[in-house]
Amino acid sequence: MLTGAGISAESGVPTFRGEGGLWKSYRAEELATPEAFARDPRLLWEWYGWRRDVVMRCAPNAAHVALARAADERDMTIATQNVDGLHAAASTPERALVELHGSLFRIRCTACAWCAVDRSTVDATSHDTLPQCTVCGALARPDIVWFGETLEPAHIDRTFSEAAAADLCVVIGTSGVVQPSASLASVTRHAGGAVIEVNPVETPITSIATVSIRDTAVNAVPRLFEVVG
Ligand code: OAD
Repeated sequence: MLTGAGISAESGVPTFRGEGGLWKSYRAEELATPEAFARDPRLLWEWYGWRRDVVMRCAPNAAHVALARAADERDMTIATQNVDGLHAAASTPERALVELHGSLFRIRCTACAWCAVDRSTVDATSHDTLPQCTVCGALARPDIVWFGETLEPAHIDRTFSEAAAADLCVVIGTSGVVQPSASLASVTRHAGGAVIEVNPVETPITSIATVSIRDTAVNAVPRLFEVVG
């Protein structure tokens, strides 16, 4: 399975693109890049602090829960582009979850290897109040893969080899424009597996999908897994 921001939309988490998408009011290249962080860490932390506040008020929806149950019962991997932690909050088994783009609730040091879970409120009033490494005191950053950075090689290896071996890849709520995640469905399709897309609108995935379900994640995903068994 590949999930994107659309699976969390009905939980109240804003998507990146489309109506009401995050990038409408904030340009990606201004915010989600290492260069932007180096230029203005306070602005970046202000934005991530806001996103953390929004997500902390959200709960997993019926689509997250249906996927978690399915992952508990079968040999299945949920590769998510989302950093909101809602798949884990829906009790997805740890072995079945790959968070390709990292997590809003993990921070890491910009100078040493320190990384930690962190759900505290971000104080971005000045550079001095920003999250810091508890080992060496350097500035900390969100443990998120930004534009221009590469995904963890172990995540790429695992998800691409599993996509090639899969009978079915279900793609839920992604605009399918950010690589390499967007290619996972094509890998399954070219290896002879089926692709089911769940998205209210047409996307680049539609052209390679075996079936496209034009509905929201909450409407479609629980029913889909009842049918698939
Ligand atoms: P996007 O915001 O690009 O796309 C969200 C998709 O969800 C769109 O295709 C919507 O049509 C669809 N959608 C909206 N509501 C839905 C619903 N209720 N049910 C199902 N689908 C719905 O989000 P992503 O494709 O996840 O990266 O974006 C990929 C990456 O781009 C993100 O992980 C993020 C961003 O830059 C990083 O932050 C590193």
